[in-house]
Amino acid sequence: MHKSSTRSWAEPFKIKMVEPVFMTNYEQRQKFIEDAGYNTFLLRSKEVYIDLLTDSGTSAMSDRQWAGMMMGDEAYAGSENFYHLEAAVQKYYGYKYVIPTHQGRGAEHLLSKILIKQGDFLPGNMYFTTTRLHQELAGGTFIDVIIDEAHDPESEFKFKGNIDLQKLKDVIESKKPENVPYICVATTVNMAGGQPISLHNLKEVRKMADQYGIAIVHDMTRVAENAFMIQQHEPGYLNKSVAEIILEICSLTDHATMSAKKDALVNIGGFLATNDDDLYTEASNWVVVYEGLHTYGGLAGRDMEAMAIGIAESVQDDHIRARVGQVHYLGERLLEFGVPIVRPLGTHGIFLDAKKILPHVSQDNFPAQTLAAELFLDSGVRAMERGIVSAGRDEKTGKHNYPKLELVRLTIPRRVYTQAHMDVVAESVNEVYLNRDKIKGLEMTYEPKYLRFFQARFRKL
Ligand code: F0G
Repeated sequence: MHKSSTRSWAEPFKIKMVEPVFMTNYEQRQKFIEDAGYNTFLLRSKEVYIDLLTDSGTSAMSDRQWAGMMMGDEAYAGSENFYHLEAAVQKYYGYKYVIPTHQGRGAEHLLSKILIKQGDFLPGNMYFTTTRLHQELAGGTFIDVIIDEAHDPESEFKFKGNIDLQKLKDVIESKKPENVPYICVATTVNMAGGQPISLHNLKEVRKMADQYGIAIVHDMTRVAENAFMIQQHEPGYLNKSVAEIILEICSLTDHATMSAKKDALVNIGGFLATNDDDLYTEASNWVVVYEGLHTYGGLAGRDMEAMAIGIAESVQDDHIRARVGQVHYLGERLLEFGVPIVRPLGTHGIFLDAKKILPHVSQDNFPAQTLAAELFLDSGVRAMERGIVSAGRDEKTGKHNYPKLELVRLTIPRRVYTQAHMDVVAESVNEVYLNRDKIKGLEMTYEPKYLRFFQARFRKL
């Protein structure tokens, strides 16, 4: 039914419980955003009408998941829910071992600590903020080996998450294989605009990894969305289910870090998974230090139960088709208005091209940060900067990193908003776009040392 169906992507669920949201006027929003230092992360959620800050931990859980919450076995050790989670990871992702963590970065921390030594290099298909920081804190240096198309918001290439095999080979040869503990492969590359990697490319990466004896770490945060794009666009996969494709992807990798707050439809949680006995033993020791015993890793039993059920729901074709369908609906509306956005459309959100929309605002005055603030002012829609603020500073020179992409991310929570909400978002983005000439940039007034985008403050020029 998922394949050539011409029917709408309409949701495979109905709504049983609702949560009121807050309607505000322009004057109120002016005060809110000023108080928040023009950083949407510093708004209070009560000040927001439609919250597209992130798809992380913001999903609506199903009645099954809520029922599972009531079955929490809150034992310190050996909770029954852990075994359900372990079984779900083995069945749907195919990894042998799982260590729960409080969220994705908890798993990144453990993995980086164990596998990276001072002076190592970590090639990957574009950085993610927390992933790169944990690599750096462990003494490593991230090197971007994604294909050039990923840095071009106008390239229509379908698999912009692909790794450039020549770039990868050059890194391994110039840095020496013994200094490259693993290749980091993200399925659905967040910072590139939610772009997938193809199975063909992943197989080539696997070959090269084997040739040099290097492991592959899979950042599987949005693997189901990536699998859906493979099903739809990679030759030979139209008759495979998303669940089958996910298993194939995972089988090509050695270890995985997961932020279950995305694909797996829970509000908190993550895990480290591996097929390697030694890594499992070492990680199950370190997890006790940083997260909790290896059968809960910082999570309540009920959270692990909700995750186990969420994983099963997340691999269903009808679910993922509606999820991506809604994101693409918003994208199509913006394209109709002629708003510059990253193409092809991503799967977890739509990314506004702030460089194109505000060409008169220099990158030093934070165009994407500015655009996100203006969108909030217009309608109470909250989005997120993914540009120079997120990219941080170069460790050595202390200068800003200047990313090619300067984006505002409209991230769609799973199973939360309606098509009418998407219409409001599109109309508001268009309104801001039509008035773009009047928009001026920002200057930073406070800059935290780590992951500055979360807490930095700005004022209007
Ligand atoms: N990897 C990717 C690709 C992510 O998108 C995230 C989180 C993480 C790792 C870290 O996981 O938040 O559970 O610790 N992304 C969120 C976002 C924050 O809004 O995109 P975490």
